[in-house]
Amino acid sequence: MDRGFIFGDGVYEVIPSYGGYFLRLEQHLNRLDASLASIRLDNPLSRQEWRSVLRHLVGAPPTPDQSVYLQITRGAPPRRDHLCPDGVSPTVFASASPIKPRDPKIATHGVACITRPDIRWQRCEVKSTSLVAAVMMRREAEDAGALETIMHRDGMVTEGAVSNVLVIESDTIMTPPISHLLLPGITRELALLLAEEHGIRYLEEPIPLATLRNADEIWLSSSTREVLPVTRLDGEPVGDGQPGQLWQRMDRLYQAYKE
Ligand code: PDD
Repeated sequence: MDRGFIFGDGVYEVIPSYGGYFLRLEQHLNRLDASLASIRLDNPLSRQEWRSVLRHLVGAPPTPDQSVYLQITRGAPPRRDHLCPDGVSPTVFASASPIKPRDPKIATHGVACITRPDIRWQRCEVKSTSLVAAVMMRREAEDAGALETIMHRDGMVTEGAVSNVLVIESDTIMTPPISHLLLPGITRELALLLAEEHGIRYLEEPIPLATLRNADEIWLSSSTREVLPVTRLDGEPVGDGQPGQLWQRMDRLYQAYKE
């Protein structure tokens, strides 16, 4: 009767760890608190408890490069009722798994994406475990020989099924502003921070689909996949069809930050 299973009534995080060091840990735990607040659930563990659970999961001594998945659901009441009775204890689940090293072909050839209308709900800033739309979009991408589906709503880019989207035009990074239509990605935020620190221009503004199609470069960002260059969109080349120079620079900055 767990409400995560019955209703998708839960939230989650995916946090990467490199040699035991959790990248942007506080930002991930802040976003977890924001997701929990949105669904009106108290965090069952303190920050200190989360830190010790996470450390325990990646082991001592830590094995290199793992991602921790953690999920909190509203718990398991005796019967199915959309309205949860009082006094149910939340369920906490967490596990660690190795992060696959990036396929070297990605840096030389990039990845393919398709575009689709964003069929999700209007609270995409909540990292909810109700992910059936993302599952459908990933499958569509896979069937089209692509890695990811980039979604759009009312003619504007929102995000990938499991990643944020950044678009490069005239050496400027553009990415849709934070709103209820997309997840405030930790990797997106880190890419913008690195841009700021290294004098790369960026804008957080709505991106029409036409701008995406004419972009010099397109990037995807996510905690497990870092920043990836997109070189094909709906079967057409992005820019010159090669991973772009600004992506190469961002990837170097990102890899150095991880160290
Ligand atoms: N997904 N947007 C969506 C819809 C996502 O599911 C994710 C990440 C992101 C990127 O967020 P971040 O940079 O904080 O990882 C954006 C995770 C990795 C997942 O569901 O496995």
